[in-house]
Amino acid sequence: MKTTIYYFSGTGNSLKVAQDLTKKLGNTELIPITKVIKEYGEILFSSDRIGIVYPVYIWGMSPIVSKFIKKISKTNKVKYCFAVATNHTQVAGSLLILANRLHSRGLKLSAGFSVIMPNSYTLSQKQHSIDNLKPLFAASEKRLNEISLLIENEDECKIERGSLKQRIINTGFIYHSVSLIFPWLDMRFSTDNNCISCGLCEEICPVQNIVLKNGSPVWLHKCEQCFRCINLCPKQSIQYKNKTTGKWRYKNPSIKLDDLINK
Ligand SMILES: Cc1cc2nc3c(=O)[nH]c(=O)nc-3n(C[C@H](O)[C@H](O)[C@H](O)COP(=O)(O)O)c2cc1C
Repeated sequence: MKTTIYYFSGTGNSLKVAQDLTKKLGNTELIPITKVIKEYGEILFSSDRIGIVYPVYIWGMSPIVSKFIKKISKTNKVKYCFAVATNHTQVAGSLLILANRLHSRGLKLSAGFSVIMPNSYTLSQKQHSIDNLKPLFAASEKRLNEISLLIENEDECKIERGSLKQRIINTGFIYHSVSLIFPWLDMRFSTDNNCISCGLCEEICPVQNIVLKNGSPVWLHKCEQCFRCINLCPKQSIQYKNKTTGKWRYKNPSIKLDDLINK
């Protein structure tokens, strides 16, 4: 059976997971959510099996994933719908919100999986090397083998969630409050003196939220909080307030820069 996977990714973790699932499932089309938002009006599915792969941000999801769901036509008839939320140990109530939003489009989320990946949240980043992340990548690979079997069998699975406290406080209270100002959180971004005006941040922003003015990036307040600009700046000169100076930057090592541009 043909599968279509829609994905959004900041630093490549969710893209890597989506690519791996595509290979494991076979006969699968992989579509960036950014492309759907730019090019499609209403979304009509051409597969019976639909997957959504996205990262957990602030115990919820970035606005583009919500916008994508709102564009799904209510006339779609889907046999099996699954989602994978990549996160760094706190999926909280993110997949439950996704399930509710899909329900409002007439779709049932049959399975919602949490996959632990390295942290892209630079503020709480520990000093790593790609080498010491290898056990984490091995664990996620093993998990994806299990997940792909469940998807192939079209199993109905419990939607994965964090503790009650995480769901109520982190998702219910913090995410829901912050989601009102999500696009404006880029007001906390700036560059330090190391900026060389290379323009890479402008080129790689998935939603064209950055323009270079007089050689410096300016954020346009339609931010997805993916932290791609912070993590990929070649001079590590993009900072979140003064909280990221000297902190380790991350990009999924299996994903090339080209795979992220315009996606
Ligand atoms: C702004 C921001 C907020 C995040 N919030 C959470 C969170 O609430 N829970 C969690 O487990 N991980 C959180 N993370 C970590 C990401 O979910 C995780 O690293 C994910 O795999 C990133 O995927 P991507 O590379 O496809 O963007 C956050 C990362 C960022 C940049």
